[in-house]
Amino acid sequence: MGPPGTGKGTQAQRLVQRLGMVALSSGDVLRAEMKSGTEVGKKAAQYVTGGTLVPDQVITDVMLAAIDRVPRATGFLLDGFPRTLPQAQALEHGLAQRDLRIAAVVDFQLSDDVIVRRISGRRICGECGSTYNVEFLPPKTADVCDRCHSRLIQRPDDARDVVMTRLATYRAQTAPLIKYYAERGLLRTVSAAGTAEEVQTEVLRVVKPLGCHG
Ligand code: AP5
Ligand code: MG
Repeated sequence: MGPPGTGKGTQAQRLVQRLGMVALSSGDVLRAEMKSGTEVGKKAAQYVTGGTLVPDQVITDVMLAAIDRVPRATGFLLDGFPRTLPQAQALEHGLAQRDLRIAAVVDFQLSDDVIVRRISGRRICGECGSTYNVEFLPPKTADVCDRCHSRLIQRPDDARDVVMTRLATYRAQTAPLIKYYAERGLLRTVSAAGTAEEVQTEVLRVVKPLGCHG
């Protein structure tokens, strides 16, 4: 969990390699559906573009379907889901039905001015979704993905006015989940202000007691 631009996707991409898990990023899933022009993609487009939340039922169905595709013995890491109380309740219910449970919820904290700076420098690969930053985490060759050599693009919802809507949406609809998970003893708070390496070390430190040894 964490506001937009705090590094959830960056850490998810790094941690799955260390922990042998699968990362399920709701934003990546929706962007892939939009790119393929599926029914879900068509339903999601107006919300993603405007920086508001896709309806709970739509995202919950998509994410539970993604969970069902993860091999049973493999752990998974959710990035960007759940984002509302009804989504958290639906996830809890869906996991219980599958005899699964959440081991921990990692909450990324970062000031708004750093968030805006990180988002304005973000570039993503239009093909494989890898994330870079022109200022903090540049690719080896400008505008080219290190991994698949495709062109890097700016996310349309990274325009400044949409970022402000996304931050407001986070505060109104997602931040209440912090209390929800704290009350369940699952919350682990991490400062997202350090380098990507430092944040990764910090996340590994809080998940190690759960048996996740990177
Ligand atoms: P989503 O794609 O999840 O966007 P978000 O939550 O706004 O998060 P971001 O992807 O913007 O930020 P991030 O925390 O992943 O940061 P990143 O690692 O890229 O969602 C998009 C939209 O989909 C939503 O607005 C909504 O419409 C819809 N949606 C998604 N989930 C939904 C749900 N559950 N319910 C309803 N609707 C949903 O890092 C940011 C930048 O900083 C990058 O450039 C990166 O290189 C750089 N960086 C990262 N870490 C560091 C560091 N330590 N130091 C310096 N730079 C860093
Ligand atoms: Mg992300």
